Amino acid sequence: MSRTLFQPITLRDLTVRNRVWVPPMCQYMVEKGDGVPTPWHLMHYGSFARGGAGAVIVEATGVTPEGRISPQDLGLWNDAQRDALGGIVDLVHSLGAAIGIQLAHAGRKASTYSEWGNGAPGTSIAVEDDGWQTVGPSATAFGDLAEPLALDEAAIDGVVEAFVASARRAVEAGMDMIEIHGAHGYLIHEFLSPLSNSRTDQYGGSAENRARLLLRIVDAVRAELPEGMPLLVRLSATDWAEGGVQIEDTVQLAGWLREHGVDMVDISSGGNSPDALIPVGPGYQTPLATAVKQGAGIPVSAVGMIDEPRQAEQITATGLADVVLVGREFLRDPSFAIRAALALNVQDAPIPAPYRRAYRQRVLAG
Ligand SMILES: Cc1cc2nc3c(=O)[nH]c(=O)nc-3n(C[C@H](O)[C@H](O)[C@H](O)COP(=O)(O)O)c2cc1C
Repeated sequence: MSRTLFQPITLRDLTVRNRVWVPPMCQYMVEKGDGVPTPWHLMHYGSFARGGAGAVIVEATGVTPEGRISPQDLGLWNDAQRDALGGIVDLVHSLGAAIGIQLAHAGRKASTYSEWGNGAPGTSIAVEDDGWQTVGPSATAFGDLAEPLALDEAAIDGVVEAFVASARRAVEAGMDMIEIHGAHGYLIHEFLSPLSNSRTDQYGGSAENRARLLLRIVDAVRAELPEGMPLLVRLSATDWAEGGVQIEDTVQLAGWLREHGVDMVDISSGGNSPDALIPVGPGYQTPLATAVKQGAGIPVSAVGMIDEPRQAEQITATGLADVVLVGREFLRDPSFAIRAALALNVQDAPIPAPYRRAYRQRVLAG
């Protein structure tokens, strides 16, 4: 039986074999602090393609050194990083999946220790300990993290240029699509949210002004990409906090993104307020994705505790979202997509040819 989850989806000129994709997930496995992927990344991204995912989106990748969450993050500000990412692209393509990359600037949440860094996880790395001065829309710290420097307009221009240069390198590396990270309390979200943006210039105040940085980046990156290449944006649909971004704001913003040539929005939530009350549970962010899809008329991906094949199928079958992103369940089982296809009785499950015997044997034995 053909299930909606395993029907191809086309965005611009890109057709992806199914709708169960892997969202960006930071690995903090760059060894030398140089932003260059390692064998770990090759194994990690290849395993999901081998396991049947339609597409994988490479983790948050800094457009500048200062834009990294930690020194172990990937980066894409030089050609060595581009060339190493190209090897991951080739592997994923050889396994039949598409690949995108999440371009990111961590803003006021940059320069922190990862879980396996040399300090308390999630705390700021001081400048004298090889950290760096963080930046943001305003000089307002996130929780106990170091206070950022408010970007001036020339520095904002530099951020836009850095996204464009990274997008160019992503195209050169052979990526099929680009995702701009506009969620989770990182730089772009910090501009979008009144909780972190108290500017009085053209980048602060009204919704239009707070969206200006993102829309500038979208326009400039879109102009750099081949016409047929999809552009995605990840948003935190709500800050889950009073005075922060609400779902209505995100529906309006998604409409603007559609008008500016964005092909799909990836709907996540939270990350910009340490006091947020997040009602975490199975599929908890899917209604946000549906609200954006219906309200803004743009394709959406849903993410967040979508761990079961039937749950995922129901989301695409009933039109709640166009694509389902499965994060931690793919970490637990990199063959999640194959397992889902078999559970849903899909005839042509995305099993690589050399592994088919394993599944045939199981059927015979059973
Ligand atoms: C290990 C890990 C790393 C993550 N890194 C990123 C990231 O780089 N960019 C991002 O937008 N979200 C990141 N996330 C959030 C995931 O993309 C996803 O939205 C979240 O895990 C919820 O989906 P799930 O319940 O299927 O795991 C990360 C999540 C995990 C578990």
